[in-house]
Amino acid sequence: MSDKPRILVARPTFPEVIERLAAHFEVEHNQADESGSPEQLRSRLQGKSGVFTTGAERIDAALLAACPQLRICANMAVGFNNFDLPAMTAAGVLGTNAPDVLTETTADFGFALLMATARRVTESEHYLRAGKWQNWSYDLFAGQEVHGTTLGILGMGRIGQGIARRGAHGFGMQVIYHNRSRLSPELEASCKARYVTKDELLQGADHLVLVLPYTAESHHAIGAAEIARMKPGATLVNIARGGIVDDAALALALRERRIAAAGLDVFEGEPRVHPDLLTVPNVVLTPHIASATLPTRLAMATLAADNLIGFLVHGKAVTPLNPQALEKR
Ligand code: DGY
Repeated sequence: MSDKPRILVARPTFPEVIERLAAHFEVEHNQADESGSPEQLRSRLQGKSGVFTTGAERIDAALLAACPQLRICANMAVGFNNFDLPAMTAAGVLGTNAPDVLTETTADFGFALLMATARRVTESEHYLRAGKWQNWSYDLFAGQEVHGTTLGILGMGRIGQGIARRGAHGFGMQVIYHNRSRLSPELEASCKARYVTKDELLQGADHLVLVLPYTAESHHAIGAAEIARMKPGATLVNIARGGIVDDAALALALRERRIAAAGLDVFEGEPRVHPDLLTVPNVVLTPHIASATLPTRLAMATLAADNLIGFLVHGKAVTPLNPQALEKR
């Protein structure tokens, strides 16, 4: 048996990333296109010092207790709500994520989803494919205006700022945002964005884009009460995480046309989608693909691999989330 550290790659990934890892580690690669059960993950992790996760694998106290050799979990995602970070810190296990490399690609998609939602792109395509198109008509699939309207952003991290820049500089939109902390005056100026309260955001936005992290506090940050505060012609786009929006409340609001439309890339309990969302026409649904271009996904996977190599081989991760975990070892 080799004396290289043993790691698990929890899901299929790029062959070149496996090759990069195999130069340093004995790699077990789960080739199945699913995370499997928590028990399967626990069993695969026996004797492993590190794991490459995708954001779908839950790392919690029970798993950590069963895998005492584990030292690092490297997420191929900027979001890390699949990690119980306090439990990892207490167990002395480092978590890392994959920030920056996906920012512009994800902001592109946020804007694509906003456009598709406001201009009814998928709804009209389904109509055409179904052979229903008879004539050009003055109000056929008339949608919501985008240019020159007010873009609201909830969660103004790097991706939120990217969407703001696209809206302000590309589409002449007025940008308002709400965030846990206000941006510096320089960043606000570069995004042409104005800080407002959450209530002002809900009431003022023609298009509201959600880009905040999922936490206990942001669970159902947009529910029936918040949707009721929005303009009747507004659209809502969620590229952040499922659970931030109350999907059942949103489906009802869409059916009753309390807002014009929604675009969702993420869902509560995904890959399952709330059945009511599947039957309302005024929603664009995509399967968590906001960062999905091959160059960006390769950059994310490479960063996750570099975190494993950096930490387990050279003693320093590239993008650590809880460096205080190292004091526990
Ligand atoms: C992320 O990086 O958090 C994206 O949602 C992909 O999982």
